[in-house]
Amino acid sequence: MARLRSDQPFIHPECQITGSSFGEFVEIGAGTRVANSTFGDYSYCDRTCDIANAEIGKFANIASFTRIGATDHPMEKASLHHFLYRSADYWDDAEDDAEWFEYRASRVTRIGHDTWIGHAAIIKPEVTIGNGAVIASGAVVTKDVAPYNIVGGVTAVPIRGRYPKGVAERMMTLAWWDWDNARLRAALPDFRSLNAEAFLEKYETA
Ligand SMILES: CC(C)(COP(=O)(O)OP(=O)(O)OC[C@H]1O[C@@H](n2cnc3c(N)ncnc32)[C@H](O)[C@@H]1OP(=O)(O)O)[C@@H](O)C(=O)NCCC(=O)NCCS
Repeated sequence: MARLRSDQPFIHPECQITGSSFGEFVEIGAGTRVANSTFGDYSYCDRTCDIANAEIGKFANIASFTRIGATDHPMEKASLHHFLYRSADYWDDAEDDAEWFEYRASRVTRIGHDTWIGHAAIIKPEVTIGNGAVIASGAVVTKDVAPYNIVGGVTAVPIRGRYPKGVAERMMTLAWWDWDNARLRAALPDFRSLNAEAFLEKYETA
C-alpha cells in the first residue's frame, strides 16, 4: 500500500498544527510547526520546519529546518519584547494584542508549485517564490524569486536559471501539476527518463 493518501495528510509525531489546511498526499515532517497556512496537493516538508502565514502550492519540496514566514517584532516601539502583544501571558488583567496578531497573519508568504526549498532556508513574510524555483540550503530570502530561478546566499541572489531560455514558460503553460493522480502515474516513466525539453515536446501536443 502506498504510504501517502489523498484523504488525509500524513503528519509525523510532535507537530504543532493550528489554523491550517492540507491538500491530497501531503506529508508534514516530525516536530514541524504549521500555523495559519495551506499546503497544496503533494507538497511536503521534512522534519523541524517552522511555517507560518504561508500559501504553499502543489508539489513543493521543503527541506528540514526551514523557516517560512519568519515573523517580526515591533522595532519602532520602546521595546521589542513580546510582552507587548503576548500580554495575557504576563498579567492576569491584560489581553493579547489581537491587532498585532492580525497584522502578522496578513503578511502572507507564497510558495509556488514544484519548488525546492533547501535545508534551513529562511523566507521572509510577503515574499513570493515563483513556480519551479529552487532556494539553496541556508539562504535568507528577502525578495521575490522569479519562476524557475535558483537563488542562494545571505541575502539570496540569483545563481542561475533552472532551465535553458524559454523552457520555464512552456512548463508553466503545460502546468502538469494540475494533472490528476492517474495521469501523473501514466506519465511517471517519462518524468523519470526525459529531460524537461523532451518532456514538453511529448506532452505539449498530447
Ligand atoms: C542551490 C543548489 C541547488 C545548486 O546546485 P548546483 O547547481 O549543483 O550547485 P553548484 O555546486 O554547481 O554551485 C553553483 C553556484 O552556486 C553556489 N552555491 C551552491 N550552493 C549554494 C548555497 N547553498 N548557498 C549559496 N551559494 C551556493 C556555488 O558556490 C556556485 O557558485 P559559483 O558559480 O559562483 O561558483 C544546491 O547547492 C543546494 O543548495 N541544494 C539544496 C540541498 C538541500 O538543501 N538538500 C536538503 C535535502 S532535499
